[in-house]
Amino acid sequence: MNKKLGLTALGAALAVGLTACGGSGAGGNSNDTASSDPSDLTIGVSMPTQTSERWIADGNAVKSQLEDAKYKVDLQYANDDIPTQGQQIDQMITEGADLLVVAAIDGTALSSQLQAAADADIPVISYDRLIRDTENVDFYVSFDNYKVGVAQGTALLAGLGVTDKDGKPTGTKGPFNIELFAGSLDDNNAAFFFNGAFDTLKPFIDDGTLVVKSGQTSIEQAATLRWAQETAQKRMEDLLTGSYNDGTKVNGVLSPYDGISRGIITALQNAGYGPNLTSTPTPLPVVTGQDAEIASVKLINDGVQSSTIFKDTRTLAAQAVTASEAFLEGNEPEANDTKTYDNGVKVVPSYLLPIETVYKDDIQSVLIDSGYWTADEVAKGQAG
Ligand code: GAL
Repeated sequence: MNKKLGLTALGAALAVGLTACGGSGAGGNSNDTASSDPSDLTIGVSMPTQTSERWIADGNAVKSQLEDAKYKVDLQYANDDIPTQGQQIDQMITEGADLLVVAAIDGTALSSQLQAAADADIPVISYDRLIRDTENVDFYVSFDNYKVGVAQGTALLAGLGVTDKDGKPTGTKGPFNIELFAGSLDDNNAAFFFNGAFDTLKPFIDDGTLVVKSGQTSIEQAATLRWAQETAQKRMEDLLTGSYNDGTKVNGVLSPYDGISRGIITALQNAGYGPNLTSTPTPLPVVTGQDAEIASVKLINDGVQSSTIFKDTRTLAAQAVTASEAFLEGNEPEANDTKTYDNGVKVVPSYLLPIETVYKDDIQSVLIDSGYWTADEVAKGQAG
């Protein structure tokens, strides 16, 4: 297995030569996988958590599609625990993984593992969340994360009637009270989502159409560690107590992820809002989301949550498989973005997939007709 041949042993001059002749993989091209049968190759797939159904769907999709391509797969979930993810990746390397697909919990915490991968000439694909602060990440598959944020901001504006669904102002002036939530700051995506949304909302905050009553407009104030539903619920409760105890109402909440949206909605319902967007006298505010998680798709169908952003995990998995095959066959995967994703050490070549905003009216055409969820699952709010 000469893929274990570390570059340190080869020496810098040879490394330069290898890179110059188009080497792939983490740090060079001494990998012999090109001549191997896929069934002799193992791909380590490291996923962050099983508490969110999207990552279960991602894990299953990557595993089954790699297995369809005849590779062996070692799929591990890390319970949102950073040391666990580090240990799982170390173990994959020790057990001879030929390639790693990693969705990081903390995008800055895997440098030593990825150095070990580079030393063993194992290519690393960063899955949906960019791994930061290391040169040892070879490719990134994701969606256009800034556009996700723009779509979330637009969905909030459209839900309030301030713009149409394309973001064209309707002339409605409000003012509307809104609050802003962001994701986990250790996830590179969180800032892309927040910035995309904030840039979209800002003109309407500046002209007084939207009022962030709490005054909490920085990403640090809006952040939700580990994207946790309970943390979001708690912050929404605090916002209601701190800024809305004078009888004023919240009209809209920017949420970057369906789990966070459900925490926000629970806090609002506990405080007497709803039960849905059309209830009188206190309708639920317009709440956005992301991932089309089945529990939230049901809430959208029931008129409780306003929208979500659909990121088709099947196509993301397929892209990860395509990139894996390219590396293992000794080639470079095709990128469609080579500028945006600077991980602090280098710009990581990326393949970004398109996204779709889903309101109640889109559930059938976008989610059910495409086979992502069945009508029955939507009705139940549960997968399977
Ligand atoms: C992000 C991802 C989102 C959402 C979130 C929470 O990295 O891009 O789609 O899943 O994590 O899991």
